[in-house]
Amino acid sequence: MDFLKTMSAGVCYYPEHWDESLWESDLKRMLDNGIHTVRIGEFAWSIMEREEGSFDFSFFDRFLDLCASTGMQVIFGTPTATPPAWLTCRYPETLNANADGVLYRHGGRRHYNYNSPVYREKVALLVGKMAEHWGRHPAIVGWQIDNELNCETNDFLSEADGKAFRVFLQKKYASLDALNEAWGTVFWSQTYTDWEQIDVPHTNAIASHNPSLLLDYVRFVSASALSFCTMQTEILRKFIEPRMFVTTNGMFGRLDNHEMARNILDVYMYDSYPNFAYGIDQTWDEDSLHDRHSSLDLTRVRSICPHFGIMEQQSGANGWYNRMEASMPRPGQLELWAMQSVAHGADYVSFFRWRTSPVGTEIYWHGILDYDSRDNRRLREVKAFAEDLEKIQEVCGADTDARFGVLQTVDNQFDADVDHWHGRVQKASEEGIFAAAQETHTTFDFVDLRQNTKLEELERYPVLFAPHFVILKEEETALLKAYVEQGGTLVIGCRTGYKDASGRCPMQPMPGLLREMTGTTVEEYTFRSPAEDMAEAEWNGRKLHVDCFMESLQAEEGTEVLARYTTSYLKGEPVLTERTVGKGRVLHFGGVFTRQAARRFLKNLGLAEPYEDLVKAPDTVEIVGRVKDGQKWLFVLNYLPEAQEIRLGEELVSLLDGEKAEGRVEIPAYSVAVYRI
Ligand code: GAL
Repeated sequence: MDFLKTMSAGVCYYPEHWDESLWESDLKRMLDNGIHTVRIGEFAWSIMEREEGSFDFSFFDRFLDLCASTGMQVIFGTPTATPPAWLTCRYPETLNANADGVLYRHGGRRHYNYNSPVYREKVALLVGKMAEHWGRHPAIVGWQIDNELNCETNDFLSEADGKAFRVFLQKKYASLDALNEAWGTVFWSQTYTDWEQIDVPHTNAIASHNPSLLLDYVRFVSASALSFCTMQTEILRKFIEPRMFVTTNGMFGRLDNHEMARNILDVYMYDSYPNFAYGIDQTWDEDSLHDRHSSLDLTRVRSICPHFGIMEQQSGANGWYNRMEASMPRPGQLELWAMQSVAHGADYVSFFRWRTSPVGTEIYWHGILDYDSRDNRRLREVKAFAEDLEKIQEVCGADTDARFGVLQTVDNQFDADVDHWHGRVQKASEEGIFAAAQETHTTFDFVDLRQNTKLEELERYPVLFAPHFVILKEEETALLKAYVEQGGTLVIGCRTGYKDASGRCPMQPMPGLLREMTGTTVEEYTFRSPAEDMAEAEWNGRKLHVDCFMESLQAEEGTEVLARYTTSYLKGEPVLTERTVGKGRVLHFGGVFTRQAARRFLKNLGLAEPYEDLVKAPDTVEIVGRVKDGQKWLFVLNYLPEAQEIRLGEELVSLLDGEKAEGRVEIPAYSVAVYRI
């Protein structure tokens, strides 16, 4: 795939929203402003098949030919996120249903279900015809599958889903006895005696559903989305030229995005709207990192696909007529946010959208241009961004210079979705570690543990956190052991190892399978009662917060106690231990990695401020390192409305202005500097 070999800018364009007479001038204006790729088509099913079986591709033929003649590249979306009215009215079984089983109706988007055989047949037919017709078109560089799989809802509760869920379970368990055992259906007399008794989880369960059923249901939702994506990808690949890539845009929950990126797509793309960080209702939380918080999602995206694209990058104020209002990017912010994506590994950045839609749900979701289409500040900023990308081309394809890793597994991700208390500690630790890493200018990666993860993939991180591996498997434990033995530092948090892959709690002391490595057992554990103050401990003479959840640990021989509770009913009990294993060590912390606790860990493990000798910056500035063939670059991002001062420890080349810089340097409001180091 040649596409990401250089950094470039693009835009989302909807030829069907505009009079054809505008197309040519739009394309020329884009090219003049540094945009060389457009993403089109992802909602245009009714343009291509207005009535069942009557395919007419002439509209997009005209547009694509114009792109070819003007020199514009195209990413073509399969329009399956918005089935036409004729389809869902004639075949209501293609619709998704809400929790009460009531079918969604035409008028929004993503109202279909992945499992309806009729929907799959109609999609396969259309995608096949598109691929056959345009698979060799010179303007097309890539294809996008659907749009934002699992966006809007990731609950699939139609009859077709119920049927497919039963097939999924039959394949997984082979017998009802095995399923009953795995799900523990003996509890509350839930035992199933016929497969037909099992359904997707509607709201018709009083109190709650069986959590093991829910865990399998989430796995099923993910598998359904993946199989829908696979079906489309395989059809496309039969016809399209090998030079074209297949992608989709995310990132949404209940979906194994890693599996999708590695085994189905050529490249993964993300939709980045940093203004959402202000909160959909515009609530302003002093402690949050606001738009800088988007770097957490970008870090996640990087674990899915180290060199990704941004399919939709925010370019204007956000807003639907009924929700999600956020203000216009201030001067500089548009480029700052685009550079935030680049700093975290995006080599392609496509803005959403060229011109604000004058009709429909998204009339307040602003693109680069306003409805009046005049040149404006945002267009000038896009042009400046495209020019700046040219100045930093040497960074293309560089990895992030991550100084530690945060391990994750798909089982734990799904279980945290089902089990609220797992979700709570997981979220608190992810947020805490992220905030601490931001404030101490320490770049980190999320690292996905899979069945085929190799030791080499872990070895590059001197320290790995496994904050809350509630579900822990034998093969994962073996890999972690090998990682530690070769010299790594593994840090685990509370609640480790208290479930198996079915969501059952094994009758053994925690941290379960890791017990031998940590040399600890958990003696007592409790959520912090809201009536109590947060507990504290002491580590190396400094305070360590133990919030949200508290475990007291018993250290076996050979395990050192690093910190004990100094408050709460657990006062005096160990809360942090360390054990040497091979050439490495394992730290067991009986708490959650809140911002304060995570800061302590980053400091005490020697991870914080890795570039301190080169750049001293206030914690309100983000620093991201990228590295390629021994060469490194630092992105220094200022998200505040005023200039911030940093201090450079030696003379560095600043790529964006081509100047040499040393000593005190001002980073203007809402802007970025990129240094070669
Ligand atoms: C994205 C979506 C776009 C557009 C945008 C604004 O989630 O992919 O099609 O809807 O949000 O709502």
